[in-house]
Amino acid sequence: MKSLREYIKEAGEKGVAIGHFNISNLEALHGIYQAAKKLNVPVIIGLSEGEEDFVGREEAVGMIREIREKENFPIFLNADHHYSFERVKASIDSGFDTVIFDGANLSFEENVKVTKQCVDYAHEVMKNNSPAGERDILVEAELGYIGSGSNIKDTIPEGAGILTKVADAKNFVEQTGVDMLAPSVGSIHGLIKSGKPHIDSALVAEIKNTVGIPLVLHGGSGLRDEDFTNAISAGISIIHINTEIRLAYDEALKKSLADNPNETTPYKILEPAVEAIEKIVESRLKLFNNLK
Ligand code: G3H
Ligand code: ZN
Repeated sequence: MKSLREYIKEAGEKGVAIGHFNISNLEALHGIYQAAKKLNVPVIIGLSEGEEDFVGREEAVGMIREIREKENFPIFLNADHHYSFERVKASIDSGFDTVIFDGANLSFEENVKVTKQCVDYAHEVMKNNSPAGERDILVEAELGYIGSGSNIKDTIPEGAGILTKVADAKNFVEQTGVDMLAPSVGSIHGLIKSGKPHIDSALVAEIKNTVGIPLVLHGGSGLRDEDFTNAISAGISIIHINTEIRLAYDEALKKSLADNPNETTPYKILEPAVEAIEKIVESRLKLFNNLK
């Protein structure tokens, strides 16, 4: 099977993006995997620090590897928004395929310093892996604060949404050697009640042409379809969605409990929640992969 690095390159060549979806439990993994399998497209499962603590770091690695190897399906695991070198290291050590050091809220210099530390560590692990070349680890970094938390927000959080400057992106990538970059290009984490700003796809294209590495779009929930398609055409290779999945799960679960007050079997109660996740992921994957 191709590596995630190769799938990302292929996505760029095809003018599509790989969907990245967060999970907090096994049901979400099932819903996401079913959707990706149905469409036969690669997919990335994300775990933020909180999600990782809840699911279990080693357990998550085990589940994803099992599906990938036994089912021969391109599903990969990302340590999403990890805020320290120690947390990134722990995820690398456990076997994650890709990791994100999120220093968006730090000074430029501090962000460069810790990102570089993460990149160096990933390279060291890859070099010392035996047989050599068997393990590939991608390191992503964030430049430009787009708020935090995949939740429902009344307004754009204070200090978020200042767009990344092309020159900063260039310096950052040169100084860190990072594999992928998530710039601030208009999206905000979470669902904003007053609506999200448009994605500045001209800026995406300028950053992409300048840095030359894959770009990642965070804060995908609630964006308009044309924002996604324009962003992909401009050079986005991976798109993150979380809040929409959480909301779909939450609504379906609450309805299932209300409709079946005497039901006590978890897999029966939870089935509509899995289906709701599958539905939303399927529609996003179709859009990202240009499928009808
Ligand atoms: O890393 C996760 C995402 O960027 C999710 O953003 O909650 O707005 O979909 P979202
Ligand atoms: Zn994110």
